[in-house]
Amino acid sequence: MVCTKYGPPDVLQLQEVEKPAPRDNEVLIRIYATAVTSSDCIIRGFKVSTRRWILGRLLLGLTKPRKPVLGLVLAGEIETVGKDVKRFQMGARVYAFTKFRFGAYAEYTCLPEDSVMAVMPSNLTYEEAAAIPFGGLLALHYLRKGNIQSEQKVLIYGASGAVGTSAVQLARHFGAEVTGVCSTTNVELVKSLGADQVIDYTQADFTKKGELYDLIFDAVGKASASNCEKALTPNGKYVSVGHGSPRPCAEDLLFLTELIATGQLQAVIDRCYPLEQIVEAHRYVDTGHKKGNVVITVEQNSQLHKTL
Ligand SMILES: NC(=O)c1ccc[n+]([C@@H]2O[C@H](COP(=O)([O-])OP(=O)(O)OC[C@H]3O[C@@H](n4cnc5c(N)ncnc54)[C@H](OP(=O)(O)O)[C@@H]3O)[C@@H](O)[C@H]2O)c1
Repeated sequence: MVCTKYGPPDVLQLQEVEKPAPRDNEVLIRIYATAVTSSDCIIRGFKVSTRRWILGRLLLGLTKPRKPVLGLVLAGEIETVGKDVKRFQMGARVYAFTKFRFGAYAEYTCLPEDSVMAVMPSNLTYEEAAAIPFGGLLALHYLRKGNIQSEQKVLIYGASGAVGTSAVQLARHFGAEVTGVCSTTNVELVKSLGADQVIDYTQADFTKKGELYDLIFDAVGKASASNCEKALTPNGKYVSVGHGSPRPCAEDLLFLTELIATGQLQAVIDRCYPLEQIVEAHRYVDTGHKKGNVVITVEQNSQLHKTL
């Protein structure tokens, strides 16, 4: 799926591109699932503030994405390994976060062996695995940035998105007492992920309930920072997805893999679309109301070639 220019979802077009060949330090991955993340939609639509406009274009491409095949996360099988690759073997089922290489909206991609890539937990499907890295790695980054500690009172604002659903589960793993904030339709979901309390933001303003928190993580970037700060304990911390650029590493993904294997982290999937319908998937993610993750399945011998 090639992003032909910056714009609405239909700038994504099905095209035949050359199958990549791995370099000596790379693996060739046959992709079975990817996801449409909020970041993919930001890049596709170039939804960047005026302040970051020039830097954004220099980084991503002046008139269209320099890396025309978007897609930040993948799950698939290693088809070939370069001659210097030691960490992975042919046939391994892996999942990955591709960072600025993008490239997951395709049947194949190559990644260096030192990428943010790990062998998938054996109890996951490819679809579930593709739903983990984006939200999981971001949530881990911000909770660590907030120096999360066991027995703290932690509030996750925007607990129903990709980052939020992971943050609730990770905060529980770290031993915190977790309060999730979401809308009415997502209250049961957030409870099911282990939140001790859930506040429906359509019914109540958490900053006016008189509760104080040791850590507030705005996982959707929509809470007022000054209001959040009023709901903090004297040494409390406030972190937001709006601040900073996380740089996840392979160890972080291995950390998540361990939590999945031990049943402490699960994938939250809202909808699945085949790659041919990724334009629809982008339209849905653009609404800003997805629950957890929107996964894309990439099937061999699918409609892809028939459509072409
Ligand atoms: N710092 C970085 O490097 C970085 C990188 C990637 C992404 N981000 C940002 O991270 C944020 C989260 O990403 P994501 O993929 O998790 O988002 P997402 O899944 O698209 O978030 C959607 C969820 O947010 C909830 N929501 C929408 N408006 C809300 C509000 N006013 N209050 C509370 N919840 C609200 C929605 O539920 P309801 O509509 O039902 O409330 C929905 O479940 C995005 O804003 C993205 O821009 C930052």
